[in-house]
Amino acid sequence: MDLEHVSDDFTRVLYTEADIERRLQELGAQIDQDYDGKELLLIGVLNGAVMVMADLSRAMNSHCHMDWMAISSYGSGTKSSGVVRILKDLNTDISERHVLVVEDIIDTGLTLSYLLSNLASRGPASLEIMTMFRKPEALENRVDVRYVGFDIPNEFVVGYGLDFGGRYRNLKGVATLAPHVYS
Ligand code: PRP
Repeated sequence: MDLEHVSDDFTRVLYTEADIERRLQELGAQIDQDYDGKELLLIGVLNGAVMVMADLSRAMNSHCHMDWMAISSYGSGTKSSGVVRILKDLNTDISERHVLVVEDIIDTGLTLSYLLSNLASRGPASLEIMTMFRKPEALENRVDVRYVGFDIPNEFVVGYGLDFGGRYRNLKGVATLAPHVYS
């Protein structure tokens, strides 16, 4: 979905499709360089990471493998509680593998804290994180993220995997949602 088709739903466009593509090309090249001679296993966290996984992996010029996890955060409202239930586990044994977790957004960082300790216990050769977007609270919580697409303000953003009530994930860019949509 193009931003123009639902522009009335937004107060501000943060990143266009071109901005995102440009940044992913940079990150893909950086990852190729950092993992030279190693074959990466990318682990996408469903559902939001579908877009970034597809585009980041294609921005890379080295072989990589992909697997997926689905997790559900306990707790009410829009904030994650940090208590996480695995709905779909990996199909892959990650011991001795070089693992890069691929996320669409890190907000509080609680989901990733859980995920990282869970994955670390499986004995990977290395374990790093890539996220397309990161909110300020994740910085306060010192989540150690190796690759960040964009640091964004603490606003209600949708698009490129980020949803509101299941909608807007398929938006090509990222924008801040207008209050009339969610109030
Ligand atoms: C989003 C995102 C992360 C998590 C980050 O997933 O994909 O997994 O929230 O939040 P945190 O840093 O505050 O823990 P969400 O639970 O919205 O599911 P979705 O990917 O299916 O939209």
